[in-house]
Amino acid sequence: MTDDEIVGRTAARVKALMEGEGSGHDWWHVYRVWRNAVHIAQHEPVDLVVVELAALLHDIADWKFHGGDRSAGPRAARSWLTELGVDEAVVAHVCEIVGDLSFKGAAVPTPMRTREGMVVQDADRLDAIGAIGIARAFAYGGYRGRTLYEPDVTPQLHNSAADYLASGTHTINHFYEKLLLLKDRMNTDAARTIAAERHAVMETFLTRFYAEWDGEA
Ligand code: ADP
Ligand code: NI
Repeated sequence: MTDDEIVGRTAARVKALMEGEGSGHDWWHVYRVWRNAVHIAQHEPVDLVVVELAALLHDIADWKFHGGDRSAGPRAARSWLTELGVDEAVVAHVCEIVGDLSFKGAAVPTPMRTREGMVVQDADRLDAIGAIGIARAFAYGGYRGRTLYEPDVTPQLHNSAADYLASGTHTINHFYEKLLLLKDRMNTDAARTIAAERHAVMETFLTRFYAEWDGEA
């Protein structure tokens, strides 16, 4: 099978599995991360097939939805890629990226071992910020039955993945606990440039949100 066929069949498979998912982790999230990743990769010396496969498979079994089990994603990715007959070195690299990628709390480092991993992590994080990031955060909050905002409940900077996963706070807190931190955690220059503009959109949104909350705008 050619690389293009492997990528195409993987995209079709992920689309079928994730279409219509309601928490902001649907196929179109994966599609945007894939496009972001290909764009960022143009500026980086990377193996594009690894980047594309990892982008496509990165949320196939997200730990947030598997009780914090971080092996679920890599396991699902491995089983699919092995079925396709993909080279073991590529499978291992893609699975490592899928396992390491996720944000796990403000004070928890999430380093990527390879350039390919850095590109995919940036691509995923770009989809968590800006206009789309705002939409996804409230979609996720609704999915989890959370309120928009509780003025008395302040954000926390989590020290462990377990604390981050267990927190069930209102969605405005998520901006301070994750989304506004992402622009300074980008790995690549291309993503940093895009992140700056998306960050500004969130700042504007929050300013308006608080003004409207108190009836001042
Ligand atoms: P990551 O693996 O880094 O968490 P994902 O692709 O799984 O990235 O997407 C995470 C997105 O899910 C967040 O950017 C946000 O939109 C949403 N999300 C996750 N946790 C929360 C939360 N506690 N409140 C609101 N949105 C959340
Ligand atoms: Ni994602």
